[in-house]
Amino acid sequence: MDRLTGKTAVVTGGGSGIGLASAQRFIDEGAFVYIFGRRQAALDAALETLGDNARAVQGSVSDLADLDRLYATVKAERGGLDILLANAGTGSFAALGEITPEQYDQTFDVNVKGLLFTVQKGLALMKAGGSIILTGSTTGEMGTPQFSVYSATKAAVRNFARSWAQDLRGTGIRVNVLSPGPTRTDLALHVVGEEAFEAMGATTPLGRLGEPAETAAAAAFLASDDSSYMTGGEIFVDGGMAQV
Ligand SMILES: NC(=O)c1ccc[n+]([C@@H]2O[C@H](COP(=O)([O-])OP(=O)(O)OC[C@H]3O[C@@H](n4cnc5c(N)ncnc54)[C@H](OP(=O)(O)O)[C@@H]3O)[C@@H](O)[C@H]2O)c1
Repeated sequence: MDRLTGKTAVVTGGGSGIGLASAQRFIDEGAFVYIFGRRQAALDAALETLGDNARAVQGSVSDLADLDRLYATVKAERGGLDILLANAGTGSFAALGEITPEQYDQTFDVNVKGLLFTVQKGLALMKAGGSIILTGSTTGEMGTPQFSVYSATKAAVRNFARSWAQDLRGTGIRVNVLSPGPTRTDLALHVVGEEAFEAMGATTPLGRLGEPAETAAAAAFLASDDSSYMTGGEIFVDGGMAQV
């Protein structure tokens, strides 16, 4: 498929997991992709597999100067932006009673404030026909023990898409949420633990964990004109977890 030929994409958190798989899929469909993340080593390793149609910019979504540098690079090299996958995210467990101000600040700083300014600063480069994709989560729709802070950030992300679809009226730019269920990535395996995570996958109607490439396929759909009449919406790639 060549649905993204000639398009320029930015993928935050593109050095690993769902972001990396999405960057690969965008390139496979013809796009040029900028990946953004804090760990230079992860970015370097990702570029090895992504090849010549990818560039990396090192930085944090929590640092507004880093975001300015990312978009200045995109503007200088490509002139504009067609696809923005705001995917960088973090999370950790703490039950009510054990939540610390530091955990709250760190999680909201990346997942909410970082995502907001990733989109707001990227918007200046986006043209009519552009697609903004926000990585949400099934947890934004569900109650999950010990995971309220992370889940609340993802509920915030869901409303950003609804409200920003209104703000973007008349621009031709669309914004949607892509919400994975339990998906085999470093973040999830580290946060949940391998055995418990496999068990979580087994509770879904499809009876298994998802793979990053399966989420990436939906990201490519949202990035492409195949989803041209979708905005303010949400797609779940969750094995049915939040649907039943
Ligand atoms: N895997 C799942 O089961 C699952 C389910 C639902 C939703 N999600 C969401 O999917 C997204 C991707 O996560 P993943 O599962 O693919 O895990 P992952 O491989 O750990 O990806 C997270 C990415 O975010 C980047 N990141 C974290 N903090 C950042 C910051 N401050 N600035 C820039 N980049 C930052 C990380 O790179 P650096 O560490 O190098 O910065 C990493 O590449 C997240 O938003 C997550 O909440 C995942």
